[in-house]
Amino acid sequence: MYRDGANKSLWQAEIKKYSSMAELLNDSYDVVIIGAGITGVTSALNLQKQNRKCLLVESANIGFGTTGGTTAHLNNFFDATYSDVIKDFGLDNAKLLARGGNEAIDIIRQNINAYGIDCGFAEKTGYLFSLDEKQTKELDDIIEASNEAGVPMKEVQENPFPIPYDKIAEVPGQAQFHPIQYIRGLLDQYLAIGGKMIEECRALEVEKQEEELVVITTLGIVKCKNVIYATHIPPGKNVLHFRNAPYRSYALAVKLRNGIYPDALGYDLCEPYHYYRCQEVDGEQYLIAGGEDHKTGETENTEASFQKLEAYVLKYFDVSEIVYRWSSQYYEPVDGLPYIGQLPGNPDNVYVSTGYNGNGMIFGTLGAQILSDLIVHGESAYAQLFSPARVKPVAGFTSFVKENANVVKHLVMDKITVEKIQSLTELNDNEAKVVKYNGETMAVFKDARGRVHVLSHTCTHLGCNVVWNESELSWDCPCHGSRFGIDGEVLTAPAVKGLDKFSPEE
Ligand code: FES
Repeated sequence: MYRDGANKSLWQAEIKKYSSMAELLNDSYDVVIIGAGITGVTSALNLQKQNRKCLLVESANIGFGTTGGTTAHLNNFFDATYSDVIKDFGLDNAKLLARGGNEAIDIIRQNINAYGIDCGFAEKTGYLFSLDEKQTKELDDIIEASNEAGVPMKEVQENPFPIPYDKIAEVPGQAQFHPIQYIRGLLDQYLAIGGKMIEECRALEVEKQEEELVVITTLGIVKCKNVIYATHIPPGKNVLHFRNAPYRSYALAVKLRNGIYPDALGYDLCEPYHYYRCQEVDGEQYLIAGGEDHKTGETENTEASFQKLEAYVLKYFDVSEIVYRWSSQYYEPVDGLPYIGQLPGNPDNVYVSTGYNGNGMIFGTLGAQILSDLIVHGESAYAQLFSPARVKPVAGFTSFVKENANVVKHLVMDKITVEKIQSLTELNDNEAKVVKYNGETMAVFKDARGRVHVLSHTCTHLGCNVVWNESELSWDCPCHGSRFGIDGEVLTAPAVKGLDKFSPEE
């Protein structure tokens, strides 16, 4: 498996293994970067280029997490709309956010040019369209606020996507690329200038010992001056676990019978919204469509989300084949903006970049720039806006309360919603259940070959109960988004320890 789920993404063929050399741990570094997605790889290259001795530590392989499952839209407008950002953070900060989006696209463009990365990068115009009166009102607000923030957006009359609309606006200056080809290009450059990487090595915790940081990993310990968590949510217990809610989003890559692939990026304003773009991969054109997001662990019937997305796409496009279908995880921050900077409750030189919402390629790139600037220069123009220590009691307060109430509900209620089975033979092949068996609550899955996989039902992070994800064949924790494979292995942080495993005979 090269991703954190059973479904293959469109990008996965490009993921390759690098070597894992445990002896790299027997050294000390200026910076240890944990996680080899876009945030980690970009940070590592930035810092190594500035003569910081870096070690990139990856628990699986590059792009194993969300960078391998993104649909890779590069935008200077975000899930947190400029109207919300102006309201909650003020116009100056909205302008700074817009500057950050443009800067991230520029950084990506410059890297591609500087290192000759062949990753299908192309600039595109984006289109936002409303489907009804309520969405049109929202679109009007978005257009006005985007222009105020410095992101030109204007009403037009044509939708490049064959979807009926009430109103449509275009936003020039967007872009797209192949995310794995891009980070591989960065990684090759990082290794070429002396950067080090170790794969299949999970960082378990970070301790301060005198003037040094010690990163404890599954392969040994490594000493350093700075640590960057580029893992979405960091492990341990942290305030960020309560300020970010994990979500799953669904994606399809399909072939169109008429061969007409829209040359644009598209977004409706549904809740959750659908997003569209096209990309050529290995000489084949694909339409990539995404949406039907829901909170992680909200349902085990994740197949229904794919079916809804398929029905939606089939209604508007002349699809000849659905070639790829996959889902991916992202984190929604309570006040809409990412958390990038020093990790609260940790030593000063432990950093984090997370809470990207559905804008991971941009915030991953910008986050890497901000953290590199903080480590090398001690400052960044964005430090205050994205500070993980910020307290916004008004912005996002409603969703903060809602998300945390949801966590508490899962902690308490899930304990009593289990089935009892007399014997594991009652399970069908390819079926999972949470069962009470001889007084124990267990997460049980019987695979297609009739083999039974029996795990503890309790997430090793903070003790919530995991929920089956039938399409990705994983046990997902609704509280902070940890995910586990059918044998209990960690697929997604913040957990660092797998679910306890029992033999079916026991
Ligand atoms: Fe925190 Fe499971 S992810 S309790």
